[in-house]
Amino acid sequence: MKRRIRNLLAASVLTASLFSVVSNAVATETIEVYKSPTCRCCAKWVDHLQDHGFTVETKNVGNKEIRKQAGISSSLGSCHTALVNGYAIEGHVPAEDILRLLKERPRAVGLAVPNMPKGSPGMESSRPEAYNVLLVEKKGDKWANTTVYNRHDPYAKKVNQAKPVGSVMRLK
Ligand code: CU
Ligand code: CU
Repeated sequence: MKRRIRNLLAASVLTASLFSVVSNAVATETIEVYKSPTCRCCAKWVDHLQDHGFTVETKNVGNKEIRKQAGISSSLGSCHTALVNGYAIEGHVPAEDILRLLKERPRAVGLAVPNMPKGSPGMESSRPEAYNVLLVEKKGDKWANTTVYNRHDPYAKKVNQAKPVGSVMRLK
């Protein structure tokens, strides 16, 4: 019993410190989210961003037009498109990957999680699936001009999870 309490305490301290690091990192970031007014998973993704310290401005006008303008191919499309600091974010991209993007600032259009994978933020599910966050390197292009920025696999061991699969170094 004692041990369990100690573990719980350790976990909450860790969570709290992670959270403060994250919030500091995004204190000044405003992100515009283009979505349909009735999309429920979009609203949940917005909550996820706010939970990670982002200031969110929602535009309930759909996302097809802005996605095109931003230079994200419709083949990479999802239910919402966001704009932050000159980058486009397509779909249910986890906040942690957006934060990393804003920190590393690679030359790129932005990040995309095509479709709506179960288990991604806003798409919570009892049957999560593995999915990739793609770095979109050039405007309007498809799969050939994306690299894997991060892989989220709920069935992989924790150790491997944080490591990005794709190489972003060569962009510099
Ligand atoms: Cu969605
Ligand atoms: Cu959405």
